Amino acid sequence: MRTQVGIVGAGPAGLLLSHLLHLRGIDSVVLEARSREYVEQRVRAGVLEQGTVDLLNEAGVGERMRKEGLPHHGIELRYGGAGHRIPFEKLVPGRAITVYGQQEVVKDLIARRLADGGKILFEVPDVALHSLEKSPYLTFQGERLDCDVIAGCDGFHGVSRPSIPEGVLSIFQRDYPFAWLGILAQVPPSAEELIYAHSDRGFALHSMRTPEISRFYLQVPTDASLDDWPDERIWAELRARLETVPGFELTEGPIFAKDVSAMRSFVAEPMRHGNLYLAGDAAHIVPPTGAKGLNLAVADVRLLTAALADFYETGSTELLDAYSDTCLKRVWRAQHFSWWMTTLLHTFDADDAYGGRLQTSHLDYVTSSTAAATTLAENYVGLPFEPGASHA
Ligand code: FAD
Ligand code: PHB
Repeated sequence: MRTQVGIVGAGPAGLLLSHLLHLRGIDSVVLEARSREYVEQRVRAGVLEQGTVDLLNEAGVGERMRKEGLPHHGIELRYGGAGHRIPFEKLVPGRAITVYGQQEVVKDLIARRLADGGKILFEVPDVALHSLEKSPYLTFQGERLDCDVIAGCDGFHGVSRPSIPEGVLSIFQRDYPFAWLGILAQVPPSAEELIYAHSDRGFALHSMRTPEISRFYLQVPTDASLDDWPDERIWAELRARLETVPGFELTEGPIFAKDVSAMRSFVAEPMRHGNLYLAGDAAHIVPPTGAKGLNLAVADVRLLTAALADFYETGSTELLDAYSDTCLKRVWRAQHFSWWMTTLLHTFDADDAYGGRLQTSHLDYVTSSTAAATTLAENYVGLPFEPGASHA
């Protein structure tokens, strides 16, 4: 078998890359370890930046998102017995976020690729990468797929990054002393917007998927097990962390999904080795507090598409050669923002009284200074794809 771009992984990065390449007349094959049902049901991100929404619309895969996605023009930071709204419409006019589940984006992309005759092979768990510095190829289940380049879009635990010889990559990493317990509940959201709540008991997040489905997260110890968290304990803890302002009442309902996610910051540089290009979580991870991971994956594949299209149209490798450096500028901005939001909102060592005072001062500043709130807002809705471009 032969294709122009061999893509490992059918997450948002791999699927969107395959679709964008198709729009530019470039052929690809996507190899995915798991089943179609599994990738379509995997519950993860929910917040799409303005640029991500615009790109999905321009690429013709935004129809359902426009109907079912929920545009949000602000978020609330809740701490010390009060809520503080960060109003995007005032601080970053014309820019907003859209709440639309990652698995819905994945479903839309799979449906569109298959309708366009795209090749996605599911349930190929044994993909291996070869000859990255010369004529690359992929092997799986006794087959060989020759390609011009390989796109490693197989997430943090994939096979692409570990295929790069030892000593080539520089790794930058930070682990956090807590995890997130996430739930989906069959109950209307308790507020119209997302609530990021800081309390002595730990961080909690009120989010949603649809007008009938709520999504919540709780900061929990890194070794937390779902067995320790029966539904009643989850609701009690959510009430304790979120019902901290007068008049706010949490609406409870049946929980139908629970997950625990580690919190990690990670960057592998460069995002290219020979003819292998890494994109999305395969190259970098952020803690979810800033809602940036999926959006970064989209930004990477947008650049990779432009670079590959330029290569096939003109023979120039200029954009491909610049791919890693160009991506890493945005990646590091998102790394900083995600670390900053995480530090702002989580409960760290209870014995560190000095750290606690700094955190309160930091929260007071962000919720009282227009300059500080604007910093949060412009990063949260997403900086423009082109550096220096206007935000409007
Ligand atoms: P993935 O989604 O991990 O996809 C990789 C694919 O590769 C998978 O389908 C996997 O099965 C496949 N694969 C793995 N190994 C192999 C192999 N050996 N061979 C073939 N295929 C393989 N981001 C946001 O932007 N906004 C949010 O609100 C947000 N919230 C989040 C909340 C939580 C709880 C979590 C955990 C993450 C959140 N994120 C958020 C991050 C976001 O989900 C990820 O950044 C995003 O999934 C990255 O997409 P990807 O395509 O790079 O990788
Ligand atoms: C989500 O709804 O899943 C979500 C929202 C905001 C975040 C992270 C996750 O920061």
